[in-house]
Amino acid sequence: MSSPTMSIAQFERLRKLIYEKSGIWFADNKKYLLEARLGRRLLELEIDDFDQYVSFMTMGPYRDDEFNEMFSRITINETSFFRNGPQLDVFEKKILPEIVEKRKNMRQLRIWSAACSTGEEPYTLGIIASRVLGFRAKEWTVQIFGSDISERAIRIARAGRYPSLSLRSVPPAIVQKYFHEANGFNQIDPEIQAMVTFGRLNLKDRLAARRYGVWDVIFCRNVMIYFDQDMKDQSLELFASVLAPDGALLVGHSESFRNNAHFVARSEPQGFAYARVQGSGGVLRNAA
Ligand SMILES: C[S@@+](CC[C@H](N)C(=O)[O-])C[C@H]1O[C@@H](n2cnc3c(N)ncnc32)[C@H](O)[C@@H]1O
Repeated sequence: MSSPTMSIAQFERLRKLIYEKSGIWFADNKKYLLEARLGRRLLELEIDDFDQYVSFMTMGPYRDDEFNEMFSRITINETSFFRNGPQLDVFEKKILPEIVEKRKNMRQLRIWSAACSTGEEPYTLGIIASRVLGFRAKEWTVQIFGSDISERAIRIARAGRYPSLSLRSVPPAIVQKYFHEANGFNQIDPEIQAMVTFGRLNLKDRLAARRYGVWDVIFCRNVMIYFDQDMKDQSLELFASVLAPDGALLVGHSESFRNNAHFVARSEPQGFAYARVQGSGGVLRNAA
């Protein structure tokens, strides 16, 4: 059986559905991508054409599972430990120490890695938090939450086992200290793993996202590039509503935006970091 072809009308229907569910927008020139990735899924399911697939996904008894599977197939999960080093340097040397100083009485730190893919980013933040806190780490409660729309990505993240390629940007001293070899893979240190929890969360589902309480830092990198302006605005509004008034938002280096109603750029040139506009956003109390 050869891979089914996707008509323009089927593409329109599918991309509308994907957009409504996730905020991810497939531009006209990305039709081939949907066709190739979902075509393989149709072959596995022995479904002949994309109309049948849409019915299976929207009306079939396994529709929730199939949506999950579909998102795992169509999302770009590329990531690595210590991705965008210069930004993380600013985070480690300036932004996080400032927040640690402000939280020194509570001794609690809450960081959300929104759209964390397979977990390299939240574990990196755990390593950084451990380095910044140093000997004080044991007296602090550090909660790092990694979330993603892709169930498959979250499953890999929870295992905390990575091939050497994921560690390509990690200095050897950090590899030695925070990973150990396990059957040809690199297993993250249990103390770092204990700081990090994972959950499947769609950024479109703002109600669900708000249930996790207030964050001192939010990382949302390399996902808003796949969103249209409306979804980007909605995501920023969500972040403003769950970020502590003195917290920081960090976005990917191609995702910097002009100051908006909720966020104002901090001064660090490499940082792509934002502070909340005073009086905007947050109404939540910390759930923890
Ligand atoms: C390129 S990865 C970025 C990973 C990490 N933040 C980094 O910068 O290395 C983008 C991730 O966004 C996730 N994603 C896409 N749309 C999403 C949505 N609506 N809600 C939550 N996650 C989403 C994808 O599943 C993918 O894992």
